[in-house]
Amino acid sequence: MKNIHTQKLWGGRFTAGISSMVESFTQSLDHDRFLALQDLAGSRAHARMLAAQKILTRQELENILQGLDQIRKEVEQDCFEWDPGLEDVHMNIEKRLTDLIGEPGQKLHTGRSRNDQVALDFRLYVSQAAAEWQEDIRELISVLVNRAEEHARTLLPGYTHLQPAQPVSLAHHLLAYAQMLRRDHQRIENALPRIRVSPLGAAALAGTTYPLDPSMVAGELGVSEVFSNSMDAVSDRDFALEALFAASMIMMHLSRLGEEIILWSNPGFGFIILPEAYATGSSIMPQKKNPDVAELVRGKTGGVFGRLVALLTTMKALPLTYNRDMQEDKEPFIQAHISVSASLQVMAGMMSEIRFDESNMLKALKKGYLNSTELADYLAARGMPFRRAHHLTGQIVAFAEEKGVALEDLSLRELQEFSRLIEQDVFHVLDYQRAVERRNSPGGTGPDSVDRQVQAFRLWLDRKNGGSV
Ligand code: ARG
Repeated sequence: MKNIHTQKLWGGRFTAGISSMVESFTQSLDHDRFLALQDLAGSRAHARMLAAQKILTRQELENILQGLDQIRKEVEQDCFEWDPGLEDVHMNIEKRLTDLIGEPGQKLHTGRSRNDQVALDFRLYVSQAAAEWQEDIRELISVLVNRAEEHARTLLPGYTHLQPAQPVSLAHHLLAYAQMLRRDHQRIENALPRIRVSPLGAAALAGTTYPLDPSMVAGELGVSEVFSNSMDAVSDRDFALEALFAASMIMMHLSRLGEEIILWSNPGFGFIILPEAYATGSSIMPQKKNPDVAELVRGKTGGVFGRLVALLTTMKALPLTYNRDMQEDKEPFIQAHISVSASLQVMAGMMSEIRFDESNMLKALKKGYLNSTELADYLAARGMPFRRAHHLTGQIVAFAEEKGVALEDLSLRELQEFSRLIEQDVFHVLDYQRAVERRNSPGGTGPDSVDRQVQAFRLWLDRKNGGSV
């Protein structure tokens, strides 16, 4: 059997062959080739630093940069020839570089190990992914704020225990999601400085004897921080875990919104009409319009949570420093990244096109007796102890239910049968729009409070757009 080890870039000390089964088991190219552009950026920065430190000559640096640029084009044009026999993205690129420019290609790895190299590539990848999520979050928030403004006066039942509770404005309901997403955005912002740290210069685990300048590498890469401990630098993946946690939180929020879309599109609710582009039919039941997009967002959430737990579990018993187990970090992150980006984008599209059925929302308000609290408060304001007012209102609701009408559809006479405290002005109080307007407490569903939220979001969106505010 031909000795494959001697062909490996690390094969110097090996004499026996490697089986193709082991080769395919240990290769990571399937996943880390998606980090090729980050690997090339890291190599460019490393090469420049080596030249600045006189470890490479100017000519060698020129050759290396030209070779790396050629490879970048091949990767971008999708014509780079990946060889799984070369194990991973780093070896593939190094081999191609050496084929292209000869000996200088072999000098690029001076003072560097795949351990600090892969940590850097992954940090750059995670940082870019997280920044993309922020952009997608911003877009979804902007859609929600637009829809909220459009529906400042649309009312629907607010629920607790999924039972109709009190009327709220649709704007307030939609902005609740915008608030959650803004915190998700902030969570990423807070994590980014911990993600954007350059580990290059840690080498295998202990640092190196070469006079490297890790700060210069970090500067070249546009990251502000440099590792402080080489063992930590090559062996922690907390930065990816933090991003996966942020991703999980985003998905949890999107899944709740998805759940509402699913409920609201059910004819039993009938609050929304799904845009056809975001629904599918049934192959057997012609009447159906299924909310598959929202269901898939809800479904993908499980996958993202799972990947967070998968990587936590992979890491939990690893002794310092690098262990090959850690190669299992990229697949879950890349998969989660795909799910989060797609879910945020598809939700923004769907939310911008959903039609809200205001008359069905109003019907649900009436049917759910959502102005009962108003009546109880009305009686209490006229001197009836609240407990009694609450009880009496319950009796009035039961009476109206029996008659099959809403509270405001009872006559004044009928109402007065229950209490002489009730007068004509009760109908003013029972009005749903007024009930919402009265809830102008800070952060409440009243129009002033909703307006304040919209204004705050507008300022925030302007700032995130690079505006001057
Ligand atoms: N493919 C490896 C990974 O993703 C690269 C680092 C390999 N280092 C090593 N010492 N074998 O983790």
